[in-house]
Amino acid sequence: MEKQYYAAPMEGMTTWLWRQVHHRVFGGADKFFTPFLSPNATYAFQVKERREVEHNEGLCVVPQLLTNQPDHFIWAAKTLRDMGYGEVNLNLGCPSGTVAAKRKGSGLLSYPDQLERLLDGIFAALPDMKISVKTRIGRHDDGEWPALLAIYDRYPIHELIVHPRVGKDMYRGTARREVFAWTRQHTALPLVYNGDVWTAEDAASWDVSVMTGRGLIADPALLRRSRGGQAAARAELAAFMGELAEGYEAAVGQDAALHRMWEIWFYLIDSFPEAGDALKRMRKCRRLADYRAIADAVIAGERLAWE
Ligand SMILES: Cc1cc2nc3c(=O)[nH]c(=O)nc-3n(C[C@H](O)[C@H](O)[C@H](O)COP(=O)(O)O)c2cc1C
Repeated sequence: MEKQYYAAPMEGMTTWLWRQVHHRVFGGADKFFTPFLSPNATYAFQVKERREVEHNEGLCVVPQLLTNQPDHFIWAAKTLRDMGYGEVNLNLGCPSGTVAAKRKGSGLLSYPDQLERLLDGIFAALPDMKISVKTRIGRHDDGEWPALLAIYDRYPIHELIVHPRVGKDMYRGTARREVFAWTRQHTALPLVYNGDVWTAEDAASWDVSVMTGRGLIADPALLRRSRGGQAAARAELAAFMGELAEGYEAAVGQDAALHRMWEIWFYLIDSFPEAGDALKRMRKCRRLADYRAIADAVIAGERLAWE
C-alpha cells in the first residue's frame, strides 16, 4: 500500500473538533484515530465517547477501543460498524499506571495468554471489519517484543502501529527505532511507525506509513509539509486556534476550553521561540478573552506588552 500519514489518538487533544478544524485549515491526515473509547459491561458509550464518533463527516476516522474483554470490544465494533465505520483500532499502548494495572493498554502486554484470548475472540467475531492494533514493544522490557510480535503475526491485523517504547518508559527517552527496524525484518504484517516524529523531513523520510502525535500538535502543518506543501502561515494558525477556542467554549464551556487550549499550547509554544513566558501566563487565565489576547499576540509575533 502507498505510504500514508496518520494523526495519532491523543486523549483531550485530537478530539472530534480538532479533527474537523485541522482538516479545514491544514488539510487533515490520511487517517485520524479517536482517543480511546472504553467499552464496558454497560454496553453503552458515554456522552463524550459518542461525540467522538458522531461528528466525523467527510473525514477518514478510526475509532480506538481500550478493553481486555472480547465481548466489550465486539459490542463496540459492531455498534460502530452499524454507524458506518469499517475499521476499529485496539489500544495496546496506553502506559498509564491505572490503565495498565487493570491489564489494559500496555498492561495487557504482560499477559500474553489473555492477549491471545482477546485477539482470538475479536478476530473470530468480526471477519467483516478491519482491525488494526496500536502497540508498545513491551510492558517493562523490549525483550518481551519478539514473543508479542509472534502472537500478532498469527492474526489478520489490518495494520500494526508500533510505538517502539515500553509501557514503563511512559514518554521518556527516545523511541527505539532500531527495534522498529528489527520488526520490519520479522513480520509480514503491514506496519506503521509511530514515535518522536517532530519534523516534516523525518516524516517524509520513512518508506512505511507514519503516525504523528505530539509533533502534529507542535506544528499543525507538519503533514502538509511532509507532502511537500507550505509551512503554517500565521493567519492559518490564528484561524485554527481561534476556531478551536470558540468550538470548545460552545461544546464544553469556558473552563474546560481554557484547559484544552493550554494543553495544545504546551506543544505549540515551541513553534514560537519569541513567546517568552506566554505559556505560563495562559495557564493563569480564567477568562477566554484574557487567554485570547495572549494567544493572538504570540501568533502575530508581537512582543508581549508585559515582557
Ligand atoms: C496527551 C497524550 C494523550 C494520548 N492519548 C492516547 C490515546 O488515547 N490512545 C493512544 O493509543 N495513544 C495515546 N497517546 C499516545 C500517542 O498516540 C503516541 O503514540 C505517542 O505520543 C507517541 O507518538 P508521538 O511521539 O508522535 O507523540 C497519547 C499521548 C499523549 C502525549
